[in-house]
Formats: sequence, structure tokens, C-alpha cells
Amino acid sequence: MTASTTDEQLLDRAWWKESVIYQIYPRSFNDTNGDGIGDIPGIIEKLDYLDDLGVDIIWLNPVYESPNADNGYDIADYQSIMDEFGTMEDWEQLLDGLHDRDIKLIMDLVVNHTSDEHEWFVNARDPDSDYHDYYIWKNGRADVGGFTGHLGPEDEAPPNEWESFFGGPAWAYDEDVGKWYLHLFDEKQPDLNWENPDVRDEIFEMMEWWLDKGIDGFRMDVINLLSKPDSVTKHDPPLNSTEVWETFDGPRMQEFLDTMHDRVLADRDVFALGEMMGRMDMETAIDYVGRDGPLSTLFHFDHVLLDHGGEIWETNEWTLNDLRDSFNRWQYGLAEDGWNSIYLSNHDQPRLVSRFGNDGEYREESAKLLATLIFTLRGTPYIFQGAEIGMTNYPFDSLDEFRDVETINPVRNALESGEIEDFDDIKHGLRHNSRDNARTPMQWDDSEHAGFTDGEPWIGVNPNHDEINVEAARDDEDSIWHYYRELMELRKDSDVSDVMVYGDYEVLINDHEEVWSYVRTLGDERLLVTLNFAEFESHTWIPEYEVDFNPHDMEAELLLCNYGADERATDVDAEAFDLRPWEARIYRLK
Ligand code: NOJ
Repeated sequence: MTASTTDEQLLDRAWWKESVIYQIYPRSFNDTNGDGIGDIPGIIEKLDYLDDLGVDIIWLNPVYESPNADNGYDIADYQSIMDEFGTMEDWEQLLDGLHDRDIKLIMDLVVNHTSDEHEWFVNARDPDSDYHDYYIWKNGRADVGGFTGHLGPEDEAPPNEWESFFGGPAWAYDEDVGKWYLHLFDEKQPDLNWENPDVRDEIFEMMEWWLDKGIDGFRMDVINLLSKPDSVTKHDPPLNSTEVWETFDGPRMQEFLDTMHDRVLADRDVFALGEMMGRMDMETAIDYVGRDGPLSTLFHFDHVLLDHGGEIWETNEWTLNDLRDSFNRWQYGLAEDGWNSIYLSNHDQPRLVSRFGNDGEYREESAKLLATLIFTLRGTPYIFQGAEIGMTNYPFDSLDEFRDVETINPVRNALESGEIEDFDDIKHGLRHNSRDNARTPMQWDDSEHAGFTDGEPWIGVNPNHDEINVEAARDDEDSIWHYYRELMELRKDSDVSDVMVYGDYEVLINDHEEVWSYVRTLGDERLLVTLNFAEFESHTWIPEYEVDFNPHDMEAELLLCNYGADERATDVDAEAFDLRPWEARIYRLK
């Protein structure tokens, strides 16, 4: 907050600000035909589950036709459904079933790249075809020596030295064309050429087609990569660059999104969520998601990069100060204009409780604490499937158990080049970082394969499903699952809903090493949230000099606590609190 943030600025209502989003990774949600792969009928089967949980919007990861080099993020046809997942009729039935329950649906929009099996790219391999210019083809540079491992003609180095986000060069040589094409992700994911107006038209028309089918918005994949830097667009061969982050927020980015907004989104009441790579400054963020910006909100990566090293197997220690700082930056940065997305996990991230909590002794407590955080910061909260039962990382033991290109490609390269000698040397890091942790099947019950499939699952089911599963969680009134429901009820249907959604955020004792506390304020309503990120008891308080009220005069009414409403949590003075390991409390201050 700044002193000038007014209640009017805070209370700028929108349905998607008041909603809770549940993300479904279809491949791993529920399989109905026994092929070991989740499918759309499987989601339909669980519609009442989603309704009971109480979520408002489903974000569905890509379900379009795809050869699955990157599990559907390599799209071969934007207007069809992948066979493994079902048919367009199934999808329509899913949409109706959601809408009947008052749940909205947003679809993944992956338009930085297509699959190399998309007919645009197949045609693009003919330099005379109109489709050739749908992609980014460049000449290589004269080999100045020293380049190894680049698969192209011997006397040529790739157009520049960018490394793809999945490891290896970001350019692939095409023998038929005699040129290189850009792929910021896998070789099978060629980048589209957004400089070409025909590409933009095709994409905008495709978006309208889905909106006309009745969807409620899009989650836009790596959307701030669309505009490539001048070093590539204006030069052939490009100017050399090793800095692949030059592709973030390129020179025409704002223009492309503004046009998309004006042409496709502006006249419809839809939700537009942009995934944004890189460390973004607030001015750029507000240009994208501020009141006059083209998008509703964004995903940034600040907090999920804290514990990653440079390589997929390298980890970093994070502290509460790091985590709080990264959220503070966005809470304050978008306080007056713009809107945050609050997530701690998704299909690209390890499980939140294994990462930011304690998946051993305090699994239940810490999973509830993290849920409290997600639901009480200012922004739209996201639940990734399985978080509501506290699913944990998977105990991977060999490279064969992994399925993800982002894990497998760089590890294979490093093993081949000798950079790493043995899988065991990096096992710990991969277990911590790999996206596959998120992708193991949803744990519905304690039966074989956790009730996910009758067949052989495409990726291992976590052995802890005998204990951690939906059936057990629903039967236990004190479970993480019921706690999520209580949080949702508070946020959506209580006297404090408005302050919980729209209230101003003010952090307390910003350097406390164990406890993160904050006050949310809207008009006369005030909430205090206090969270102990430690395996031991911690003490905290409301420092008088940090707030504009007198804590001694306040009564603290407990709204929710992950240890239950016992005396320790209810019988308190508003000034000071002794919190148990991983304890989370929400108070209304009066
Ligand atoms: C971000 C998606 O979330 C991720 O799963 C995918 O691999 C990349 N974008 C490339 O599309």
C-alpha cells in the first residue's frame, strides 16, 4: 500500500478477482478408458467433486491435438481435441457440465510456438509457400570456430548462441530449407513469427472461435515472448547474442497484446491471464495488467525461481525473507493498479508442501498454512490439482521414471558430454526441481493406481496414495481438503469476503525470520494473518509503529486456524502471539 491508496481504488470489482481457480492437468487427473492417460470424460466424472470443493474457474491445460513432445504444449491443430483425451463432443459436454454448476472454463492458449507437426510448419518447409514466413527462418553464421554440438552444416554456426529453455541450441537446421528455425523450447516447438500479420490474424480468429464456443477466457502460455528482439527480426543472420532473455517483453509486445485485446477480448467479459517469463519491472507489469492494459492478470516467476539453481538439477536455499520479499514486491507494486495471481504450484512446479512447507512431520499443518497464504494475499488464488489433499513430491529413483522433456533433455546432454557422471549425483536436485513431481496422477483413493486408472499409468503414482488421497481427506473433518473449503467459504461467502479479496496489504515485521504477518484493510474492516514458517514455536506481535491503529485497543476474533479454534488461538490479546510449528491464523481485528 501507499498512503494514497483509496478504498475506491481497492474495490475495483471483477468476477475473476472474486473467483478461485482450480487447474486441471488432464493427462493426470482421471482416466476412464483404461489407457493410463487421464481424459475429458474423466473430468466430467469429477464435476461434482469440483463443485463440492467450491471452485469457480477451471483452467484446463492444453487438450488440443498434439504429438506430445511437451505434453500438449506442442499443438498440431488448435481447433481439435487430442484423441487420447476424447472428442470435441466430450469437450462440449464438459463445458456444459461446468456451466451448469456455475463454474467457468479457461483454456490454455499456446501461441508463441506450434508443433513441428502443425500443418503450418509442414507447409512452411517449402520456401515458396505462404506459410514459410509463419516461422522464424534464419541463415547461420560463418563458423568462427569453437562451436560444438550444433547440428548444422560444418562451416556454419547457428544464427546466434541462444540456448533453448529446454537445453541445447535454440535453433535447428532444416536440410530441405537450408536454413535454421528458432525454437525457444523443444526442437519440436518452432516459434511463430508474430511479425507476420497473417499469423496474428489466424491466431485472433482461432481465439474468437473458442470464445464463440462459450469459454470464459484464456491462460496465455509464455505470452511475453511473442515479440522477438530486433537482433533477430531485423538481421539475417541475426546479430549474435547469448542472452536468451532478450526475448522477454520484446519491442512490439505491448502492441501485439493491445491488438489482441482490441480485436478479440475487449467486447467480451472474459478473463485473460498472461504467463510472463523473466523478472519484470512493475511499470511493464502495469502496462500489461493495469486498468488500461490488455490482460486481467499475470503469472510471474519470482518466487518459484528462489530455490532453483542454473541447471535443472541444481538447487538453492531459500529463506522466508526471500519469499516474503518477492511477494511484497508484487503486493505493493500492483496495489493501486493491476491484479495479482497467487500461486505456489502448477504443472511446471514441484509440489508446494514439499517445497515451501514440510512434507514430513508437519505435512498437514504446513499444507494448510500455505493454503492460508494463497487465499489471504491480495490477488486471485490458484489451486493445482492435488494441493487440496496435500500431495507431495515423488520419490524418483532413476531417469527412466521421468517423462518430462525439460528434465530429460538437459540430463541426457550432460550425461553424454560427461558434465555429470552418474544419475545418482543429481538425483536429489531432480527430485526437488522436476516438473514431473506435479504430474504424477491425482490420488483419489488407496486402491492400486490411486483410483486414477484401471490400466498402467503413463507416469508413476506416488506410493503415499495409501495415506494421501481424496477419499480419506473427505472423510476426515480436520483434513487439508476441509480446510481449503473453509478458506473458500471465508473468501467468497462471509462478512469478511470483501476485505479478504480487495483489502489493502500491509506487511508487519518485514525481517522476522520465521513469521510472516500482514494486515488486510478495507474501510473499517481489518484482518490479521499470521503464519509461522518454522518447525518450532515462534513469537510475533503487531508493532504499534507499523500500523495506523492501536493494537492495545483491538480485539482479535479468530476466523480460522490450522490447529483448530482452541484456547491458544482464541484467547489472545491483539498485540502478541505465540505460534505453534507451522501454525496459521486469521483474525478479524475490531
Ligand atoms: C509454459 C508451460 O506452462 C510449460 O508447461 C511449457 O513447457 C512451456 N510454456 C512451453 O510451452
